[in-house]
Amino acid sequence: MKCVDDYRLKFGKQELVPIMIGGMGVDISTVDLALEAARLGGIGHISDAMVKTVSDRRYNTKFVKAKLQLYKHNVANPDKSAVQFDIGRLIEATHLHVDAAMSAKKGSGLVFINCMEKLTMNAPKETLRARLRAALDAGIDGITLAAGLHLGSFALIEDHPRFRDAKLGIIVSSLRALQLFLKKTSRLNRLPDYIVVEGPLAGGHLGFGMDWAQYDLATIVAEIAQYLRAEHLDIPLIPAGGIFTGSDAAAFLEAGAAAVQVATRFTVTKECGLPDPVKQEYFKASEEQIVVNQISPTGYPMRMLSNSPAIGDGIRPNCEAYGYLLDASGNCSYITAYNREVAAHPGARRVSVMDKTCLCTQMRNFELWTCGHLTYRLKDTTRRDEDGSYRLLTAEHVFRDYQFSRDNRIALPE
Ligand SMILES: Cc1cc2nc3c(=O)[nH]c(=O)nc-3n(C[C@H](O)[C@H](O)[C@H](O)COP(=O)(O)O)c2cc1C
Repeated sequence: MKCVDDYRLKFGKQELVPIMIGGMGVDISTVDLALEAARLGGIGHISDAMVKTVSDRRYNTKFVKAKLQLYKHNVANPDKSAVQFDIGRLIEATHLHVDAAMSAKKGSGLVFINCMEKLTMNAPKETLRARLRAALDAGIDGITLAAGLHLGSFALIEDHPRFRDAKLGIIVSSLRALQLFLKKTSRLNRLPDYIVVEGPLAGGHLGFGMDWAQYDLATIVAEIAQYLRAEHLDIPLIPAGGIFTGSDAAAFLEAGAAAVQVATRFTVTKECGLPDPVKQEYFKASEEQIVVNQISPTGYPMRMLSNSPAIGDGIRPNCEAYGYLLDASGNCSYITAYNREVAAHPGARRVSVMDKTCLCTQMRNFELWTCGHLTYRLKDTTRRDEDGSYRLLTAEHVFRDYQFSRDNRIALPE
């Protein structure tokens, strides 16, 4: 049986190890993790989700404080339409984050940024345009458009000098979504350089309804591949979601995929941004604890551990500081749910909100433990130390295990 290393992802003349580590916001796929993938000859992702918060934590800026200061007067107001992002600061934060990755990059691989389009930030078009252009200006190798496929995104950067040289990719979960995107962008004469096909077992938000379990990644990939062949479109396909071993990956490559996108196995690496105690929760998880629910205000189902502290936590919306999910008119379904509970429990010091979560605050604080469906298998990828804790892996170890393993074997750490 072949292994992943028998294949290469070809971008023009460039040849890469066909392993892409998927973007994981908020700063779960860190610069360090992305740099390891690039050093080893593959592709890593940073994420631009809540980039001002990430910048404060990583680069000693004070963006969040400045925004909160400006809108402090609005904290008790349920109407958040006045809370706007300062575009200049958004650009500055994106620059800092991208530059931290690109200036440290070594090796023959690439670093991309995952751009979650559902972060509508009270001004969807303007903020997305700023984020995309700033990432290109700061020298990112490529951009992956994720969650909420904004059909007009390519047009937001069509006049950017790097529009045709940077790698631009999209994530879709169905042939229909791809067809819509291609139709919408046809006038730009600019195809995506790669298509990540994300199946129902992935982490984060899902491109499926609550009937996700009825879908199957291999079937969707085959359907899309057939369509591309019929249309004479030669675009690399990159399946994602539930590809847990090198052999799983090699099977997709053998069937014609150009590379694979993986994430869950890297959540328990030293380079991953989750706090160490949370990594232990991922290791410990049982299959029953991995649930898909609808508490994300984005409107997409999301997969997470059922013991995530975020579930039911009725904290006050923190849009003056964050506000990344405010739609074009300043609404977020968590605000509605929170206000409903407050009205139903007059005088209560704290309310519980079960149907929605304050995604910004919870993701920022690593209290919402989003994960892939196969997280329950992570315990089989390492050893346990004497104190009972699971040993963290290095990104290099996991990357090389994907690259070289055969026969469904998983290499344990030394
Ligand atoms: C913890 C975690 C966070 C994620 N966050 C994002 C995200 O912010 N944006 C995105 O497009 N995909 C996100 N994903 C999806 C991954 O990028 C990837 O496509 C998918 O999880 C691959 O499947 P696997 O985890 O089974 O390997 C996330 C996945 C995980 C595990």
